[in-house]
Amino acid sequence: MASDLLPDSILIRPDILCRLDFPALFGNGAPVELELGAGDGSFLLRYAEAHPGSNFLGVERLFGRLRKIDRKGRRLGLGNLRGLRLEATYLLDWMIPPGSLSALHVYFPDPWPKKRHHHRRLINPAFAALAAKALRPGGRFHCRTDDASYFEQMLEVFHGASEHFVAGREPEGLLEVKTDFERLFNAEGIQTRHATWVRR
Ligand SMILES: C[S@@+](CC[C@H](N)C(=O)[O-])C[C@H]1O[C@@H](n2cnc3c(N)ncnc32)[C@H](O)[C@@H]1O
Repeated sequence: MASDLLPDSILIRPDILCRLDFPALFGNGAPVELELGAGDGSFLLRYAEAHPGSNFLGVERLFGRLRKIDRKGRRLGLGNLRGLRLEATYLLDWMIPPGSLSALHVYFPDPWPKKRHHHRRLINPAFAALAAKALRPGGRFHCRTDDASYFEQMLEVFHGASEHFVAGREPEGLLEVKTDFERLFNAEGIQTRHATWVRR
């Protein structure tokens, strides 16, 4: 709802027991794209600015990073951007209307490199099922990582979800919009990887 907006802010405080009402949240019925773990919003701010015909929601659990998104989003006058402080999986499971997203972006999720911590990684078979539920047919899942073993896991997970997803390509211009972490990796010469799957 429009009243979910905090005063003088693009941050929202919705009822976490209900699914989001995107037309009410954005004031129109344009397609909605979601970024999980949006960090300081480097990607989302530029991408939302370049695509005024779509709506964008950024989710981030660290409030300091979310406040940067809020400050910069307001400065840019982005009416198509909203930010939310919440745990990504909860949002996807309980608050995103099924079949509502046109795209889901996950860039440089925490890699949890130690094998005993791999179970904490965001992208796993349960996540693919949630992504399949949230995306509309033809909707796209985009991911990037610098971690070779996590990338292998992403490929395996979405290969294993082939009844819902088929490998696809990034739309023109998407890969040129870098995230904060990506710029750091690029500056250090660290290789990054990317992939896209399309909801059947
Ligand atoms: C490695 S950073 C990458 C940030 C940004 N995507 C980028 O590429 O610059 C991962 C981000 O995801 C956020 N994050 C990690 N797990 C999360 C979760 N379960 N729910 C929401 N945010 C999460 C972290 O706070 C952090 O800002």
